[in-house]
Amino acid sequence: MSFGLSLPEQGTFEAWREAARRAISHHIPPDQIDWTGAQGLFAAAPLPDTEGPHRPQVPSAFVALARSVIWHSSPERFSLLYQALWRLDRADGAPLSQADPLGRRLALLAKNVGRDIHKMHAFVRFREMPATGPRRRFAAWFEPEHNTLEPGSAFFAKRFADMDWIIATPRLTAEFQDGTLRFGPAAPRPTLPDDASESLWATYFANIFNPARIKLDAMRSEMPKKYWKNLPETRLIPEMLQDAEARVQRMRAAGASQARPGAAAISTRYRAAMPKLPDRAPALPETLDQAREAALQCRRCNLCEAATQTVWGSGNVDAALMIVGEQPGDHEDLTGQPFVGPAGQTLKEAMQQAGLSRDQVWLTNAVKHFKFTPRGKQRLHNTPDRGEIEQCRWWLGLELAFIRPKLTLALGASAAFALTGKRDPLAARRGKLEQGLHNGPVLVSWHPAYILRLSDRQQQSRALAELTEDLRRALAILQG
Ligand code: URA
Repeated sequence: MSFGLSLPEQGTFEAWREAARRAISHHIPPDQIDWTGAQGLFAAAPLPDTEGPHRPQVPSAFVALARSVIWHSSPERFSLLYQALWRLDRADGAPLSQADPLGRRLALLAKNVGRDIHKMHAFVRFREMPATGPRRRFAAWFEPEHNTLEPGSAFFAKRFADMDWIIATPRLTAEFQDGTLRFGPAAPRPTLPDDASESLWATYFANIFNPARIKLDAMRSEMPKKYWKNLPETRLIPEMLQDAEARVQRMRAAGASQARPGAAAISTRYRAAMPKLPDRAPALPETLDQAREAALQCRRCNLCEAATQTVWGSGNVDAALMIVGEQPGDHEDLTGQPFVGPAGQTLKEAMQQAGLSRDQVWLTNAVKHFKFTPRGKQRLHNTPDRGEIEQCRWWLGLELAFIRPKLTLALGASAAFALTGKRDPLAARRGKLEQGLHNGPVLVSWHPAYILRLSDRQQQSRALAELTEDLRRALAILQG
């Protein structure tokens, strides 16, 4: 071995690329470079300072692979990548192919890195720290298996852009402050206070835990035990497992309990509008709280698989007006509250114009889980389909049964279908009263997200004015 170097912990990819370029431009073969710096300064010469005359053509697939493999913790990663580069340059076989041992090795390293980043996104748990300025501050401690803090942090910068946060790891620290992400050396493990987000995670985890469906092996593979020590919710696992059989019994017993008569009348009508569920007679909750608890476990359709949590209604339980939207969006899915994102802001403004406050109404959605398509780091809204709306009607029926609003306002086509069973175009129905499946009046209006999507300014102001007018009308109906 004649050359040796060691690469920095940050900016590793750029440093490796630059060194590899210099090495290959001088035709230095792979077995003459020690990338680990293990031979010490005196045993090996540094690489030449400048590039030689040779400029290899590198396929973009190799660059993409290298950008991933570089974060693996294996000390061999730099040399394996350089071997591949060397062979590509010499047209020596197909070093990126799965048929080649080197290609298989590199693909496995890249896969491990991808999985580690995915686990980081799933298992970093922030705790709130005392704030010194206007932005909320959070900190987390995480122990990735590979060097994935750098490639994995952009996800958090996007998700939690309006907060300041730190993710400390044994090797590196990521700090996001005032919209700028920086990396620094490892700092001592921060002392993390207990806070409300911990109970939120615990609640979320308790809710996705279905005692009748325990698959321990699958659970350990999804959430490997090595992550447990930094996850608040895993404290619940032993207890939940112990209680699982008893919970299944309780769920069965609850299935046979008598329904509250008032609730039954309405929810039966809503249930009748649902497609027949094979052999499944859901227990009728006897209170709004019981209904909410049950909804948190809902698995009626597949939307629960990708969504973070069930977003149940919120507001005044004695409200005379219930406002029903389509489904939670990205913000709602993360916070568990309906109408807290951009559409919620538009609705709030229209309500204020109409003289209505949020605590006068019960706000909810036709579908209680966020339906989306992941696109890069974003989650793009998808309209729920008929089957999903029909499955979720069960919960809407219960909300109507327990809140007993005098009037319901349907925002958009999905809510109008959920409440009335009719799918006629909205333009002809907006501003009119219809009969709901629960026999109560339903006023139909535009969905605020539809208003936000209108690109024509005039159309947009008109639609907003119409939504405001409908809210005023709702108030007038209730007062008159
Ligand atoms: N859109 C809805 O229909 N509901 C929400 O809660 C948020 C956006």
